[in-house]
Amino acid sequence: MATLADAQALEFATMAHPSPVPADEREALIASPGFGTVFTDHMVSIDWDEGIGWHNATLGPREPIALDPASSVLHYAQEIFEGLKAYRLDDGSMALFRPDENAKRFNASARRLAMPELREADFIEAVRLAVMADKDWFPKVEGGSLYIRPFMFANEHFLGVRPAKKYKFLVILSPAGNYFKSGAPAVSIWVSDYTRAAPGGTGAAKCGGNYAASLVPTKEAFERGHDQVLFLDAAEHKWIEELGGMNLFFVFDDGTLLTPPLTGTILPGITRDSLMTLAREEGLTVREEKYSLDQWREDAASGKLVETFACGTAAVVTPVGKVAGHDGEFTIGSGGPGQLTTSLKQKLVDIQRGKMADSHDWVVRLD
Ligand code: PLP
Ligand code: COI
Repeated sequence: MATLADAQALEFATMAHPSPVPADEREALIASPGFGTVFTDHMVSIDWDEGIGWHNATLGPREPIALDPASSVLHYAQEIFEGLKAYRLDDGSMALFRPDENAKRFNASARRLAMPELREADFIEAVRLAVMADKDWFPKVEGGSLYIRPFMFANEHFLGVRPAKKYKFLVILSPAGNYFKSGAPAVSIWVSDYTRAAPGGTGAAKCGGNYAASLVPTKEAFERGHDQVLFLDAAEHKWIEELGGMNLFFVFDDGTLLTPPLTGTILPGITRDSLMTLAREEGLTVREEKYSLDQWREDAASGKLVETFACGTAAVVTPVGKVAGHDGEFTIGSGGPGQLTTSLKQKLVDIQRGKMADSHDWVVRLD
């Protein structure tokens, strides 16, 4: 049987954009992009059909896609996605951060959702082509990046419940500034009564369904004036898992760090992994251990816990200042960004933007 490694590299056709956004309009759009509202001119598209495999790889204009009302994704949510960013280095060239890890996680998600895998090299080439086509959309704002959203969905016209026989893979780009609108020095999080993922479920996969499940508690968090929602484990509703779109780290007064372990119910974040590596290189102890909400509250009150931060591609490293739930609220440290949070963030951002030596070969230059 042919394996993914034997598959021929895909050849991408390029279709010229008949009417890209005029330069002055583009400049206005990227002047203050926020997160996820502005999109670029192009997209990459690849189709998969049973018996044919991946084909029709194209870089072309970003445009609406027509879906049959019976398209399977609309009924059973067989969909996965990734999130990574293109950065501009000091010398003006574009770069990606650990895109091979996104390609690997994409395939892990594909396996969990019974979808076809895409060769890592094809995933990265699709991302590279999209970024290079739209590098003029890079926002020249502090902390700006081109957020890259590769995704795949089932597109067979069939209502039976089984894996589809047709899929579409797309890459779109969105110029991005800060994820959090509030601009506050630290975010406030709401402890959800709902759970996001149970053992044996899809929590470790980056599938749209996980995010759909997070929307009611997210709405509740926003209505109560918080920025993000925190999920506890499904079995005991006691152990801290992650936020709606970010992993969490806890910093203690002895300088050690703790982050919840990858037990299958949380997303294995690439930022999480990178920060663990950077912290350990600095000689810090990082424990991947269960941590309960009650212990967190107690440690914050006693001063044993000094900092908490959220991390992810979109959020980078964001301090958590306040935690609220039905049992009341508590403050972390001074309620603002802590020292270790700030220094780890700076180190990560400096590596991503080519300002600091990249001893792990994490940065992939595109031009
Ligand atoms: N957890 C969830 C639920 C996420 O959506 C994300 C963002 O992708 C993360 C964690 C962080 O992952 P990464 O650092 O790979 O972006
Ligand atoms: C990311 O950080 O890339 C995410 O996917 C988080 C959120 C925007 C869904």
